[in-house]
Amino acid sequence: MSIQTSHPKQHRLEMIRVKPSELFESETLQATVKRGLTHQPKYLLCRFIYDAIGSELFEQICDQPEYYLTRTEDAILRDHADDMVDGWAQAPIMIELGSGSSTKTRRLIEAALDRYESLHYVPIDISETILEESARNLIRDYSSLKVTGIASDYDTALRVVADRMKGPKLLVFLGSSLGNFDDGDAVRLLQRIQGTLSTDDRFLFGTDLVKDAKVLEAAYDDSAGVTARFGKNILTRINRELGGNFDLNQFRYEARFSPEHHRVEMRLISEQEQIVTIPGVDLTVSFSAGESIHIENSHKYTPTILDQFAKQSGFVEERSWTDPDQFFRVQRWHV
Ligand code: AVJ
Repeated sequence: MSIQTSHPKQHRLEMIRVKPSELFESETLQATVKRGLTHQPKYLLCRFIYDAIGSELFEQICDQPEYYLTRTEDAILRDHADDMVDGWAQAPIMIELGSGSSTKTRRLIEAALDRYESLHYVPIDISETILEESARNLIRDYSSLKVTGIASDYDTALRVVADRMKGPKLLVFLGSSLGNFDDGDAVRLLQRIQGTLSTDDRFLFGTDLVKDAKVLEAAYDDSAGVTARFGKNILTRINRELGGNFDLNQFRYEARFSPEHHRVEMRLISEQEQIVTIPGVDLTVSFSAGESIHIENSHKYTPTILDQFAKQSGFVEERSWTDPDQFFRVQRWHV
């Protein structure tokens, strides 16, 4: 694997990016649109919601009163960060999958710096700009912190971690990010994570829990309409990048909890019979009135499901933390 390393003007900051050609080949927007909009029922992949606008809208979702996830996980971290980072004689390398702007992680970084005095933090994110910016802010704010950012997808980054990061590790995966994966893919990701960890290492991750359908559906369809705009951003992208002529007003957003699949399912529903053309992929798509495009799933878990996941991926739970309402759960696993 050929990787590129730089130290942008700062001895405590290192950036690693894996050359695009080396990236795990992942499906393009074109391929997804072709496959998903000719499929019955129609679907698209939720990662295409996240361009610059989609990422900004997601940040806004986190501030909506109905979206309890961010707040609740942050409160759990605030109350228990000391315990979460405890258990080593010297600081473990703290690696974070999908770090984004690393705001919640500051709770863990501060607890680790209190406990161990210095820390090597390794944030992993697909967006190099967000990664470098948050890394700069972190080393500015914490003088005994060293940061190595890895701009890459999870699979590739985990290989880089296995190759170059020696010593005890605390791998962190927050925000119930696992929730976008179907159960099979979730277990495969957990198995891959398990494969990069040793007996001295720990895996700390946050998951949203199954709860009243009304609470869940409100969290994914806030009254200010931010989540609806977030979902419709995938149509905006198809219009802009592939010359599509989706009329956003002719689609309504819907979030429904499916107890059977233990997930909130998000869809865009055609308000009427209509035809959409997408020249960039040579496609004409017809919609009947009420026909939907499935755009995202957000899985919700029970301790029992999480226990099965642990067994299937070779992990054992060491400890878990939750909030008084038991809305959200953070757990620490070992191999
Ligand atoms: C980023 C997957 C954690 O499922 O709660 C929020 C994405 N989508 N509102 C979630 C999301 C619509 C979010 N995750």
